[in-house]
Amino acid sequence: VERPIRVWDAPVRVVHWAIVVLIAFSWWCAENRIMDWHVRSGLTVLALVVFRLIWGVIGGSTARFARFVRGPRAVAEYLRAGSPHAGHSPLGALSVVALLAVLVVQLGTGLFAVDVDGIDSGPLSFLVSFEAARSAAEVHEVSFDLLLGLIALHVAAVLFYVLVRKQPLIRRMITGTDSTLVPGAASLVPAPAWRLVLAALTAGGLAWWINRGLGL
Ligand code: HEM
Ligand code: HEM
Repeated sequence: VERPIRVWDAPVRVVHWAIVVLIAFSWWCAENRIMDWHVRSGLTVLALVVFRLIWGVIGGSTARFARFVRGPRAVAEYLRAGSPHAGHSPLGALSVVALLAVLVVQLGTGLFAVDVDGIDSGPLSFLVSFEAARSAAEVHEVSFDLLLGLIALHVAAVLFYVLVRKQPLIRRMITGTDSTLVPGAASLVPAPAWRLVLAALTAGGLAWWINRGLGL
């Protein structure tokens, strides 16, 4: 029996599914105006996204932006004659970058947002005028629609690969391994544990510091 190829390290997988759950929860809290939990949940997503951005520089090989973010030529080549990847394909990388970019806008504007009566507010809204904080809230709403659109596209793309191309992308985002890849496909080179500690402490510390209003 061939050993399955390792694709995603545990941090990438845990962060992915935690973000999925917490975005749904953040949305539910906002809909039901449970804003204290919306802010807590949002700050946790912020820590996870910051972690993912750091992990994209110092993490396992398949998590690294420098490895998977490719130019238009690589994307075109993949569309023409693409084969399964142990990691993101050049096209998949585009959606990763788009999702993370819109999430950064969503999280960043949330920090400065206030609601119409100035009661519910992000932890940094005290730094800006009420008008600016209302603008942040408006961008926060627009970027949420954008995020929903990207998520729909993302899930549709994943389902296309699973159902039509018969690539077990969801399973490998859960188990981290893919037994359908050819042996010898460049598999995951994991990062040492101290980097995980460093990235987690930095991301958690930043969220904590923001939550404290930067200590001001
Ligand atoms: C997971 C990321 C997030 C999502 C998906 C999200 C989504 C939303 C949605 C859908 C609303 C309701 C907009 C409306 O119709 O009034 C909202 C409002 C709000 N969010 Fe977030 N949010 C996120 C992160 C954050 C963060 C990190 C903060 C601050 C720490 C934050 C602070 C706020 C505030 C203060 C409001 C009220 C603004 C208003 O009522 O106009 N959000 N958010
Ligand atoms: C809140 C919604 C979601 C967001 C923001 C999101 C975001 C992301 C991001 C940023 C990545 C890149 C992973 C990385 O390199 O760290 C990714 C990958 C992935 N996501 Fe999601 N995702 C969402 C929902 C889902 C759902 C519902 C599914 C299942 C149907 C899913 C399945 C996957 C899979 C299978 C991959 C790996 C794709 C591959 O093998 O190249 N995602 N997602």
